Amino acid sequence: MSTRTLALDDRSYDYLLATSLRESEVLRDLREETSRLPMSRMQISPEQGQFMALLAELIGAKRVLEVGTFTGYSALAVAQVLPPDGSLVACDVSREWTDIGRRHWQRAGVAERIDLRLAPAVETLTALVEQGAKGSFDLAFIDADKGNYDLYYELCLRLLRPGGLVLVDNALWGGDVADPDNHEPDTLAIRALNAKLGRDERVSISLVPIGDGVLMARKR
Ligand SMILES: C[S@@+](CC[C@H](N)C(=O)[O-])C[C@H]1O[C@@H](n2cnc3c(N)ncnc32)[C@H](O)[C@@H]1O
Repeated sequence: MSTRTLALDDRSYDYLLATSLRESEVLRDLREETSRLPMSRMQISPEQGQFMALLAELIGAKRVLEVGTFTGYSALAVAQVLPPDGSLVACDVSREWTDIGRRHWQRAGVAERIDLRLAPAVETLTALVEQGAKGSFDLAFIDADKGNYDLYYELCLRLLRPGGLVLVDNALWGGDVADPDNHEPDTLAIRALNAKLGRDERVSISLVPIGDGVLMARKR
């Protein structure tokens, strides 16, 4: 009974989690361990992880790219629903944070499916393009340094097959993208990519207000 998206209050959000969240024990433990880190806010929300896993299932994803892994929650959420011969290339620069992920990936029995590349993501993605991996991925999730978002998007688009999906995290950036007085570099980068995707004829899009906003772009 609304012609616009509902702004969730705490009660509705708790209801959403209580009725629909299906979080494995390992994911829950990983979220709990991450919550004790000073940078815990970088982790995606559990309902976003579930949403991404559902999207991976819907498109029958086998080959996945992740740009920005942190302690491995989003990688684990998606890797858990990949087929046994599926794989996820996880890009990050932090051994310390991804070591936490590795422990949980092993416990969940999906470590073999996750190919962690510890290097600046632009290098990893460029190397994949040069090695001939263009058009070979089904799903890409972009969730790293915002200044490189446009570059990540362009590289991921080349690496995706037609019909593949790019998910750009933080599209709403806590509401800052809608504040005309906010000229922070990260805000400008996200705002520019949102505007670009708004008119990018190479993709069909939807900006989904889940978590911090996920801009979905399906490669045509
Ligand atoms: C927002 S966190 C990712 C959160 C993660 N997707 C999750 O579900 O918990 C961003 C990550 O990007 C990584 N990062 C920052 N700059 C990077 C770069 N140039 N290349 C690769 N990773 C980078 C950081 O180390 C950090 O772990």
